[in-house]
Amino acid sequence: MKLRRFTVVAVAAAAVAATLNVVPASAGPTTKPADQSLRAAAARHNLYIGTAVDSTALNDAADPKYRELVKSQFSSVTAENVMKWESLEPTRGTYNWAPADELIAFAKANHQLVRGHVLVWHNQLPAWLTEGVADGSISKTELREILKNHITNVVKHFKGKIWQWDVVNEAASDPWDSPSTIHYKGFWAQNLGEGYIADAFRWARAADPKALLFYNDYNLEAFGDGGPSDKVQFIYNFVKKLKADGVPIDGIGAQGHLGTQYGNYDVFQVSDMLKRFTDLGLAAAFTEVDVRSYTATVADSNELNPRLQASAYNHSVLLQACLLNPKCLSFTLWGVSDNHSWVPTWFTDPPEGLATVYDETYQPKKAYFQLKADLFLAGPPYVQPRVPVKPNKGR
Ligand code: XIL
Repeated sequence: MKLRRFTVVAVAAAAVAATLNVVPASAGPTTKPADQSLRAAAARHNLYIGTAVDSTALNDAADPKYRELVKSQFSSVTAENVMKWESLEPTRGTYNWAPADELIAFAKANHQLVRGHVLVWHNQLPAWLTEGVADGSISKTELREILKNHITNVVKHFKGKIWQWDVVNEAASDPWDSPSTIHYKGFWAQNLGEGYIADAFRWARAADPKALLFYNDYNLEAFGDGGPSDKVQFIYNFVKKLKADGVPIDGIGAQGHLGTQYGNYDVFQVSDMLKRFTDLGLAAAFTEVDVRSYTATVADSNELNPRLQASAYNHSVLLQACLLNPKCLSFTLWGVSDNHSWVPTWFTDPPEGLATVYDETYQPKKAYFQLKADLFLAGPPYVQPRVPVKPNKGR
């Protein structure tokens, strides 16, 4: 009887796996991880594995490998820049939707979900907006209306095509800012006060009842001491308050920009962090994972190998923590390959790089194989399929 039941379950599981065209968890020792894409390996867990997409590289006919990897390896995409305010509305009242629409069409053609990035952030704002506020020609009252219109227009334009929106990005300060007590920072908090956060979620929900609405930030990987300089605690407290106030927030996005020069997290610290947020009834996602290294002294393999290994380890810690939490719905890398990574242009003193899972010539690095191995090796009882999250209507 027992045996029969097992057989029925096994046959059913194999049938499901066959329809999904993925290797079942019981596939056995003939499975060679290198034969499968990341997206197929992640599908076993109903996990979406994504990448930020550089639209210029995607459309560069001289660089076909980039496009091929975005298609074949990933089941979700994020616009690296083309959905940011300065790109969407460079001139007041004139929207440039085409590059973002093209990315969405590409995603649809390749059966990929789209993370919308980003509605409210203090960076990459159009000059007409920041200058208008600075010279007083845009009042605070008008600014709030402008933000409401922006969220409403953008979310409506993409309605039904975005799985998860990063509604508010990087609203909290860092312990190295002054004052070191964590506080709401940046353009929006300075001009509108912290109430803009709840407003932004409500406006986004009114424009699309079905998208999952996320708060997204960096250095969220682990709780600190719970004191005034603990950024994760600060964010936890305000997200909890948003939920309690009936604000329609659905998820927490941990960017996951790490560096091999820093101390390493362990997988249980990170999974504890995720659990505290998902225990609030939220979904979670890693949204911008990359692991950079200092590059000035990387002359030979003595210097390169430890960096590649540390990068692989850190990528793995984040992915394993995500796998351990069935509410962790997606794992997005911030860039496909080192030749198109934001790191070398942003971290120059000292120079940093080596942050992604493919090198400059699109060869997969240790981190790539480690992510794939994690996806292949994970399964019950500790790793269960993802549990879909329903959009929170708010009240
Ligand atoms: C970065 C892009 O990768 C760069 O191309 C751009 O010049 C600056 O922004 N956190 C975020 C992302 O939320 O939007 C940032 O992306 C990286 C840090």
